[in-house]
Amino acid sequence: MTDEVTRSGDAIETYSLEDRHFPPPDDFKERSLVAGTFLYDEADRDFEGFWARQAADLLDWREDWHTICEWDRPFAKWFVGGKLNVSENCLDRHVANGDGDKVAYHWEGEPGDTRTITYADLLDEVCRFANVLKDLGVERGDRVNIYLPMIPELPVAMLACARLGAAHSVVFGGFSADSLADRINDAEAKVLVTADGGHRRGAAVGLKAAADVAVADTPSIEHVVVVRRTGQDVHMVEGRDLWWHDLVPAASSECPAEPMDAEQLLYLLYTSGTTARPKGIMHTSGGYLTQVAFTHRYVFDLHPETDVYWCAADIGWVTGHSYIVYGPLANGATSVMYEGTPDHPGKDRFWDIIERYRVTILYTAPTAIRTFMKWGTQEPERHDLSSLRLLGSVGEPINPEAWMWYHEHIGGGRCPIVDTWWQTETGAIMISPLPGATTTKPGSATFPLPGIAAEVVDDAGKPVSSGGGYLTLTRPWPAMLRGIYGDPERYTETYWSRFEGRYFAGDGCRVDDEGYYWLLGRVDDVMNVSGHRVSTIEVESALVDHTKVAEAAVVGAKDETTGQGIVAFVTLKAGNEAGDELGQELRRHVSTKIGPTARPKTVIFTDDLPKTRSGKIMRRLLRDVAEGRDLGDTTTLADPAVVEEIRRRATAAPTED
Ligand code: PRX
Repeated sequence: MTDEVTRSGDAIETYSLEDRHFPPPDDFKERSLVAGTFLYDEADRDFEGFWARQAADLLDWREDWHTICEWDRPFAKWFVGGKLNVSENCLDRHVANGDGDKVAYHWEGEPGDTRTITYADLLDEVCRFANVLKDLGVERGDRVNIYLPMIPELPVAMLACARLGAAHSVVFGGFSADSLADRINDAEAKVLVTADGGHRRGAAVGLKAAADVAVADTPSIEHVVVVRRTGQDVHMVEGRDLWWHDLVPAASSECPAEPMDAEQLLYLLYTSGTTARPKGIMHTSGGYLTQVAFTHRYVFDLHPETDVYWCAADIGWVTGHSYIVYGPLANGATSVMYEGTPDHPGKDRFWDIIERYRVTILYTAPTAIRTFMKWGTQEPERHDLSSLRLLGSVGEPINPEAWMWYHEHIGGGRCPIVDTWWQTETGAIMISPLPGATTTKPGSATFPLPGIAAEVVDDAGKPVSSGGGYLTLTRPWPAMLRGIYGDPERYTETYWSRFEGRYFAGDGCRVDDEGYYWLLGRVDDVMNVSGHRVSTIEVESALVDHTKVAEAAVVGAKDETTGQGIVAFVTLKAGNEAGDELGQELRRHVSTKIGPTARPKTVIFTDDLPKTRSGKIMRRLLRDVAEGRDLGDTTTLADPAVVEEIRRRATAAPTED
């Protein structure tokens, strides 16, 4: 970029709260795949050549590409002319290499039932289900909707689609019938794969019943394939609905993988944003698989022979697509896959799983970590977590204290933490440490990965070398979204029009004097207090820094004198009492940590915060509560009762100064 560089960004004001540094431990470094800067150096010299080498090293291609990247901004194609089959890369080649008996998934259901699935088992089942789909008329280029709990049939169905060149569209099992119907209709899917139900917090939650309601409004669906999971009663429509267990064992396990174009649509995944119509994010095959395999291997320092890797997300989100299914399988990893919630039957379920499977790499979200902080250290302390060697975080900015807690109480002080920034749209991790090479700082995602070009810019789009602003991406990357399904204009407008020539998907970011990136959350959440633009994460992190606080969310509520006043919603660690005095103490604490501008005007104590089903705090609803408005759209809210409770407490909370 030749633009003039702004020295100190003021688009978002920032506070340097954190100066702890954690270099990679020596013993970790000795064994790690990357301990120096060679990957960065190579990518800096020629980023396209770098990605081409990764594509050639990490994947098997049936035909070579003639062009690495075709960039007709904002539309990219990668490895043009190349052909491969994604499911072959995830399965057949490992079996052919003699790794058929290797465990792909240690699967555990919430009730405690388990299945051990090898690469050979998975290939067998994927071929059978691919043949079932073929018999149901699914062809290359068709769409298949998948609405399943976290059971092995979910990756099987995805890989069977990939084998045939049909695109899957997975809808998270917690979504309603309406959301499912909207997504099916947008994709015009032919087949829906679902289950009778799934297990959640000790109860059997129905899925087929919701699928029936949805399918009543989805003319494109010809067949519904139903997995029996809970055994609950379901209504099967003659001719339309078919049982998985009737079809799959009877199908042939021979289904040769056909080569697909590198740009063959692999999947659609709908992201809702907060209010607007969901967008069908499009991901294709060769570039996507290259970047997820690369990041899964190097960000998690994967040693496929010895590691037991566990990404505790749901496959219904992009994290699960890229880092439970495609990345780990392309790399021949052994993963844990778990169906249920972390508090069933006890609040130590995760630690129990880690101990039993000897998990070495754990990848989870800040919302989970803060919940574990709230539950207390006695839960992990009951288990042997010494197998862990690396920890990951994704989904939201991680507060430095949550990072420290994760480091000390889960990682035993010895495991590097990779805080990975990316989005459904980016397809794969973009900003993250490489654990054997990067000195980390709690709360910072550190630097763009090799091959990735990011820049923070101010309101005018000028690069900021140090300070706060907007995170943009300046070059295409292999796993980037190829568009919004059926709406190329919306794609251009949403991501490529705010800053000329740059991709912008709505996150604030600070670059510090050492060039580290600190994600500041969604720019829609930035508060304006007496003319200062203050990011939510920094005030929340100052609150979480207090020993009694487990989690906090802050919002700006209209204020006659200051424009907006900060209202803080605070959840305490178990065993602490809420009260006015503690409220005052927390306000003082923030003031001392980051300054009087950021001091919350009001502190409201709550047992829980409103979150999306993927665990992100919904600050928009908290703003409605803080300003006494009726709630906006609550359809993406995981537990509506939480907001009502908060509203009750908000009316009782005293407002200071
Ligand atoms: O705001 C950023 C936040 O999550 C958004 C993307 O959400 P989604 O598409 O659901 O994908 C989540 C899993 C990749 C981003 O725009 N986000 C994600 N990871 C981080 C993050 N914010 C800060 N730090 C992260 N590590």
